[in-house]
Amino acid sequence: MNQKYTIALLPGDGIGPEVIKEAVKVLRSLEKILKIELILNEVPVGGAAYEAEGHPLPANTLNVAQSADAVLLGAVGGPKWEKIDFSLRPERALLGLRSHLKLYANLRPAKVFPALVDASSLKKDLVDNLDILVVRELTGGIYFGEPRGVDTLVDGSRRGFNTLVYTEEEIKRIARVAFDVARKRNKRVVSVDKANVLEVTGLWREVVSEVHSEYDDIILEHMYVDNCAMQLVRLPKQFDVIVTTNMFGDILSDEASMLTGSIGMLPSASVGGKTAMYEPIHGSAPDIAGKGLANPLATILSVGMMFKYSFGREEVNHKIESAVESVLDQGIRTRDILSHKMIEVSTEEMGDRVVSELEK
Ligand code: IPM
Ligand code: MG
Repeated sequence: MNQKYTIALLPGDGIGPEVIKEAVKVLRSLEKILKIELILNEVPVGGAAYEAEGHPLPANTLNVAQSADAVLLGAVGGPKWEKIDFSLRPERALLGLRSHLKLYANLRPAKVFPALVDASSLKKDLVDNLDILVVRELTGGIYFGEPRGVDTLVDGSRRGFNTLVYTEEEIKRIARVAFDVARKRNKRVVSVDKANVLEVTGLWREVVSEVHSEYDDIILEHMYVDNCAMQLVRLPKQFDVIVTTNMFGDILSDEASMLTGSIGMLPSASVGGKTAMYEPIHGSAPDIAGKGLANPLATILSVGMMFKYSFGREEVNHKIESAVESVLDQGIRTRDILSHKMIEVSTEEMGDRVVSELEK
């Protein structure tokens, strides 16, 4: 009997549906090549779900996601929903999925493809062969801490507040993820905090060091977040694995992604629970939605991460990465990574090119 996997498809908003469509082509092609069976269940999420059902994360969408073997998400959000209540914004769907699926570890690789080395805003020798993995804590910290809100003081003026909180257990488990992945890479971890100012990240630093005592083959360094932001653009190749809090990870992973030239190239995996979720790092890019300009490679590479982390098939990830690399080597580019003398293609053509490489 063929191996069978159920995948929840959550296209979402903006360019989400366009890039998911190309990822589906890749999935269907893999189904043939690998002789596996893929059941793809598409459900609405984000603004699209809000329009259709009045909620960005409808119960059925969550159910379909929870009962799948893996989730593939496009992107959520857009100007249309910026004015509605926080609790109904498209972004809440993402946070809801992360916390319901217990996806406490977000893996965001920033890897430079040789053909794109000139797309980086940094000098070539600073970024060629760059390969960083940001491990971002995803279900705790200031994103989820209570109390939170905006209230009114006795003098009638308003006050806004959020809470940055981490338990020892939350820090331990994300530290273990970082050390475990570092073991399969260059065995170096930089833990990023603001321990000179924030007590909770002082605890972070202590606990990460404690967990490190179980990993004597890994080199651990601690770094303040402001210094890390600077070091990333000064000398990015000093990093292998970066492990950090939810909000610092949000910021540093965007910074790290740009070292590679385009945020349109980077996949991500959110793991920790029974069902993991895969998504491109980029957002819904409403300004280019529907124009065939979106780069589907980040989503296609996210499918690769799915095979690696959820289905235990690292060789399929390699296969997808090689297909993407060949397409790039042929000079094929979407607009976001276009440079002199390269061939511009649409979102769909890019998907087709990857499929034809896979099927070679
Ligand atoms: C990300 C995004 C999200 C986040 C937003 C859309 C809620 O920026 O995945 O990095 O802040 O986590
Ligand atoms: Mg972000």
